[in-house]
Amino acid sequence: MTIEQLKSAYEVAYQKSATDIFFSPGRVNLIGEHTDYNGGFVFPCALSFGTYLLMAPNNEQKINFRSLNIDAVYSLELTQLTTPLPNKAWANYPLGVIAQFIKRGVSITQGYDILFWGNVPAGAGLSSSAAMEVVTAFAFNELLGTGYDRTELAKIGQASEHEFAGVMCGIMDQFASAQGKKDHAIYLNCDTLAFDLVPVKLEGIKVVISNTHSPHHLDSGAYNDRVRQCQLAVQQISAVRPIKNLAELLQADFEQVEHAITDEVAHRRARHVVGEVQRTKDAVEALQQGNIELFGKLMTQSHISLRDDYEVTGPELDALAEAAWKVEGVLGSRMTGGGFGGCTVSLVRDEAIPTFLEQVGAEYTEKTGLKADFYIAEIGDGAHRVNA
Ligand code: GLA
Repeated sequence: MTIEQLKSAYEVAYQKSATDIFFSPGRVNLIGEHTDYNGGFVFPCALSFGTYLLMAPNNEQKINFRSLNIDAVYSLELTQLTTPLPNKAWANYPLGVIAQFIKRGVSITQGYDILFWGNVPAGAGLSSSAAMEVVTAFAFNELLGTGYDRTELAKIGQASEHEFAGVMCGIMDQFASAQGKKDHAIYLNCDTLAFDLVPVKLEGIKVVISNTHSPHHLDSGAYNDRVRQCQLAVQQISAVRPIKNLAELLQADFEQVEHAITDEVAHRRARHVVGEVQRTKDAVEALQQGNIELFGKLMTQSHISLRDDYEVTGPELDALAEAAWKVEGVLGSRMTGGGFGGCTVSLVRDEAIPTFLEQVGAEYTEKTGLKADFYIAEIGDGAHRVNA
């Protein structure tokens, strides 16, 4: 949809024009998976697709939420903005963000009519929910003049996800959506939130996103289980060497203390995290030195660790990654995001793209009976205002 079409849709929905329009992107993570809530490094980039928010003040003491993607409409009194809606209502994503503003002492005295539209494929692990949270945080920050910086807006989005969606996620998705920059990836230290924007200019190579069309279910509990298993590993290691996060341990440190993790599952989870943090550091260094081949190999190793030690891939993601590894001209391929379905990300040489689409598509359908979708990723900017 174009901005003009979105404006018309707003007029149809609310019989007036939108006064403000904002956008915030989805993200694809190149490497550094399930490291964020362990205080480790991640390396995501913002995509050119994301969520638009159109809004205008109203004279009711209410915030009205509509979406062009979902039929359900919500209308909430200004006194009802701090309680989650039942039954996994989609409006909990923006509502949770507004509740965070209120929690920080901001009063909301004005009603608004809000319309969302997103073009991030939902349930694909490309952070459509973070895009909605961050666009809401960005919009209210602008309209209320609260002056939070982008990192704070990401924290607001993350807190909303914890408190209104019940997913104990890390900061990566909201951070990428808030801080993304065109043609750059974000090398983020999730412990300190210090970050560098690293140019991703790949001559003759594309970042290809492949969608399993098998939805990931972050709220299914499997994600929160991983968070708890990592906490258990921290607790058990701390008996021999006090640590706050798994990511504090270099590989060699880990080898000295891993015997303290008596829980077999927690041990494998911790081994993934420690290895993945090292791979992420190595991958960023490789990219900066122009060694894309090494970057690709580390991506593939990341997938294997996520498959065997972290157990968040599943048959669909494995089928896509394994099919990609066989194609000549693929430098690396791995699952991206939370896992359990969703997407893979691959580095593919330009000349190999037609073969990639054909072979990976065919092998995937043969193995799973599903049809994959492919997108060439365009790395876009973080949250911003769109001219109304
Ligand atoms: C989801 C979470 C992120 C991160 C990834 C895995 O996308 O929202 O915080 O933990 O999974 O890397």
